Amino acid sequence: MIAKETVDKILETAQIEEVVGDFVQLKKRGTSLIGNCPFHNEKTPSFHVSVSKGIYKCFGCGKGGDSVRFVMDHEKYSYPEALKYLANKYRIEIEETEQSPEQLIADSRRESLFIVSAWAGKFFQQAMWETEEGKSIGLSYFKERGFRDDIIKKFELGYSPDGWAAMTDKAIAEGHKEEFLEATGLAIRNDKGKLYDRFRGRVMFPINNFTGRLIGFGGRTLKTDKNVPKYVNSPESDIYHKSNVLYGLFHAKKAIRDEDNCYLVEGYADVLSVHQAGIENVVASSGTSLTIEQIRLIGRFTKNITILYDGDAAGIKASLRGLDMILEEGLNVKVVLFPDGHDPDSYAMLVGSSAFKTYIEQKRQDFILYKTTMLLKDAGTDPIKRSGVIREVVESIAKIPDSIKASVFVRECSSLMQIEERVLISELNKMRLAKQKKESSTPAPLPPPDGFYETPLEGDASSSPDEAQEKEIIRLLLTYGHQLVNWDEITDTYIAPYMLTNLSDVEFDHPQSKQILEEYKTRMEKGELPTEQDFIKHPDATISELAISLISSPYVLSDNWYAKRKIYVKNETENLRATILGGIFHLKKRKVDHILKNIRTEIQTETDADNQAILMQRYLRVKEVEKGISSFLGSVIVK
Ligand code: UTP
Ligand code: MN
Repeated sequence: MIAKETVDKILETAQIEEVVGDFVQLKKRGTSLIGNCPFHNEKTPSFHVSVSKGIYKCFGCGKGGDSVRFVMDHEKYSYPEALKYLANKYRIEIEETEQSPEQLIADSRRESLFIVSAWAGKFFQQAMWETEEGKSIGLSYFKERGFRDDIIKKFELGYSPDGWAAMTDKAIAEGHKEEFLEATGLAIRNDKGKLYDRFRGRVMFPINNFTGRLIGFGGRTLKTDKNVPKYVNSPESDIYHKSNVLYGLFHAKKAIRDEDNCYLVEGYADVLSVHQAGIENVVASSGTSLTIEQIRLIGRFTKNITILYDGDAAGIKASLRGLDMILEEGLNVKVVLFPDGHDPDSYAMLVGSSAFKTYIEQKRQDFILYKTTMLLKDAGTDPIKRSGVIREVVESIAKIPDSIKASVFVRECSSLMQIEERVLISELNKMRLAKQKKESSTPAPLPPPDGFYETPLEGDASSSPDEAQEKEIIRLLLTYGHQLVNWDEITDTYIAPYMLTNLSDVEFDHPQSKQILEEYKTRMEKGELPTEQDFIKHPDATISELAISLISSPYVLSDNWYAKRKIYVKNETENLRATILGGIFHLKKRKVDHILKNIRTEIQTETDADNQAILMQRYLRVKEVEKGISSFLGSVIVK
């Protein structure tokens, strides 16, 4: 872990305008700086940077945060990665602490694996560019395939000499440990205990993680012998986990974000050729079938994936099901098919950059529609087969989490299949219901608090009916919590404890609001008084996002509660006590209303007269509470 002192120092030193300024052109306007938002496409700037608060906020797409959040979002770094980036930018030395000895050993071991991998990468490059064997065998192979020098250099391609242990011997001579050569898989130990090179006489494709560190290799043979495996790859290691690596992502990530799309191909060569054709937003899953981690990795940069397929029908069919996984992650999937016998590499080399680009633009199809047409063609007029098609297509649509998007597909597919929409919808609902059943049979994590909440009839179970009101309370807490007031005209008190006391009987259900409230309470119990900055800089992205959006937008409440009382809102600081109590009691009123509504439903469905009487009693008691709250609200507002 990075030491707390170092984290503090980084947060103090980092200037939001400088951090953002490295990526966005900012202009001064009023008290803030503005620019075009790097997170969505826009022509008129709605991206604001507040130097005094140390935060940014886009009023177009809603993204906001502090320096660390910006780096995390923009570069897709984890929290520690972003801190390291900033430390490097401001030349702050990172002190790491609180590591157990085991952790220290593990970390330094991983670091050693990185180091020996990077060294090997350099070695293979030198072996290709600077030795006779490398030039005449490795380099000439790449050139014959049509790769340009700049691409060969950019992707740091290399050549591993055709000796027994050329690389291993050199590594050891230069002080690298056998242990790490073996752990990275660069060297293999034979029966006699001697190390030899894994990659011999192969051209080398280094594999980077998305922050650019070399973590493994793919080595292609130059032989046409069918008995020799075409590619030999680094094995899994402490630094190379195949399932969450995408070949080319480091070089593609900027273009992926700019184009808001990621092309997915199968092989190393495809990445190089497509890149060379001027399409830089391209990555490969490298032979393995796409994993959920890889999809999520892409999802950090864009929600759009376009798959470039080799033109062999059998392969495409086999992969159709796998693509549902992408839909499930909420990403949009398009596909492009190449003429039979071609992969993206061979086709790009054949037709050249501009024809290749045109081809992709013209041939891209939506995956679900493509799947539908293809299955329909296969099924012909056979009614049984056709109903199988319906099921398969609906299965895909059911995976789409966004119901609006799903309904668009229902419409389009119904016209493709010439089936009434309602047939598809009923099939879709059946599938969803079955899925829900399956999910609800797994034990629920926590029972809901005693009948307090209204169960939303529609929408997912996580929706919080009082989200706006709860957020409003959090906004007030963060904005005014540390202000001193003297409302009873006897003692000075901070607003935060005053609010928390008044909220002691209210249970929040919007998860982030609840978490902020809980953390606030916990810290006050420890004698601290948190500030808005503590939550702006919160390591949990969802928390800091909420804090920032609350602080930068004055009114969160969207219902008519405040709209009706416009004047009152404008002067919220003039009568802060009324604002705060108004907010709190408004939330209380809603909570009580939910309870009342629940009891009413219970009474309606209860058939036993005795039970009905008990429920009625309960209803009246709660109703009393509700009256009290309403009249209090009335008095607060009138003031
Ligand atoms: P391809 O056979 O399509 O490779 O396998 P390619 O990249 O087009 O290679 P060229 O054009 O013949 O040089 C796709 C990917 O599957 C993995 C590699 O990642 C390859 O890029 N693969 C393939 C292996 O790991 N091992 C193999 O033996 C073959
Ligand atoms: Mn190929």
